[in-house]
Amino acid sequence: MGEAGHFGWRNDLSGVVHGPAIQAQSIRDVHLNITPATFVPTPRQLPPPPPHFTGRSAELAELDRLADISAQTGRAVIIVIIAAGGFGKTALASHWLHSTGDQYEGGALFADLQGHEPANAADPGDVAAGFLRALGIPPERIPLDIAEQSALLRSVTAGRRTLFLLDNAASAAQVRLLLPGPGPEPGTPSLVVVTTRWRIAGLAIDGARFLELGPLDEPAALDLFDRMVGSERAAEPDEREKLVSLCTGSPLAISVVAAKLATHPRWRLSRLAAELSDERTRLRAMSLDGDISVRAAYDVAYQTLEPDLKRAYRMTALIPGPSFDAELAAAALATSCDASGLLDALTDACLLAYAEDTGAEHQADPRYQFHDLGRLYARELAHRRNGRPPSPAASTGTWPARSRPTSRRAQAGGGSIPCTTRRSTPTPTRVTRWTGWRHGSPAWSPP
Ligand SMILES: Nc1ncnc2c1ncn2[C@@H]1O[C@H](COP(=O)(O)OP(=O)(O)OP(=O)(O)O)[C@@H](O)[C@H]1O
Ligand SMILES: [Mg+2]
Repeated sequence: MGEAGHFGWRNDLSGVVHGPAIQAQSIRDVHLNITPATFVPTPRQLPPPPPHFTGRSAELAELDRLADISAQTGRAVIIVIIAAGGFGKTALASHWLHSTGDQYEGGALFADLQGHEPANAADPGDVAAGFLRALGIPPERIPLDIAEQSALLRSVTAGRRTLFLLDNAASAAQVRLLLPGPGPEPGTPSLVVVTTRWRIAGLAIDGARFLELGPLDEPAALDLFDRMVGSERAAEPDEREKLVSLCTGSPLAISVVAAKLATHPRWRLSRLAAELSDERTRLRAMSLDGDISVRAAYDVAYQTLEPDLKRAYRMTALIPGPSFDAELAAAALATSCDASGLLDALTDACLLAYAEDTGAEHQADPRYQFHDLGRLYARELAHRRNGRPPSPAASTGTWPARSRPTSRRAQAGGGSIPCTTRRSTPTPTRVTRWTGWRHGSPAWSPP
């Protein structure tokens, strides 16, 4: 090992030394002060999957497909699940990710970005700092600057397949700061699933793929109800079907109604069916302790709207028929402007959907539709504001002949005045059809 050199003894090091090495001629006492390394578990932060998860087989297959095609690019895969409140975005994401999560040796990170009310959305810096701590970075080494935090997050996750569930995102900027670095090799990237009530168009620039969730289909809705309520209540089969049908495929509504029955084993299904059948009491019956409620989900969404969108939302809910176009909306709003910008903005907020029956958004003049519970909520707002119930004379669901607008585009020589700027958004995949859950047209009440 050692030999006498020009200045005395010289030590040679064999092998490879990582980091600095000290060579000393003679050592008397050696004191070792080694702080035991803090154990940092691989983060597994996903919320538990819903215990009664049902249906969504087409959506699950679509998520697999989107992840596969995105993985070819070598960049982190970003999938955005879009839907109105209570439609099952978080449930679907956590169910899917639990079934695929083991492949991600870098761990699974979860954050609620609180984007339901964009003004109160989570600070991405706080979220990034939380992720870095979970990944083992000591707090004193986490930079204060958000851009540096974001860069450190990319560095720490680079080369480690990591899973991110960013729940309730508000904007592309918020998500962008939380994206991981590249995976270990092409074909094995990290995966980011974003859920949101907003069509976040900006993420398309980052290579995101979009999946829009519709209502649960009828067999899945009945299955969810049965699993929560218990098969012993199947003694009232007609009432069971009626109850589920009145929830019109909203998993939140079904869960609330089923939870009420599960905790009141002596209640007959017919009791709740009567409450749900009456439009005046339906939304109240779909509420648990106030905060878990269909109305609360719509309240939050409605409060985020600009005044002109609030008015458009209320007034278009009064249009009879399953769907409507921008001209009918303009008539309901008593305006000569082009209402399509307002309608598209409401669609971006998941308060309206492009109607299935007309080829939807691919058409030059798309038609729009409400989810039944959303329309009921919006009509309640409209009537509360107008101070009168729907006109019984108009319950035929037909548009009054003298109110039907002549073609404003024709009047204006092909041009039209926009009420607001039409926003351009990516087209998400929609695998659930928005049909089959209707309960007749709402009554017409003139604006
Ligand atoms: N496919 C499903 N099977 C069983 N239960 C479901 C399903 N989808 C949603 N649920 C239940 O419905 C309720 C609402 O779902 P979830 O919280 O996922 O909706 P969300 O779209 O994330 O709503 P929000 O926008 O408020 O976050 C939850 O109790 C959830 O467990
Ligand atoms: Mg959610």
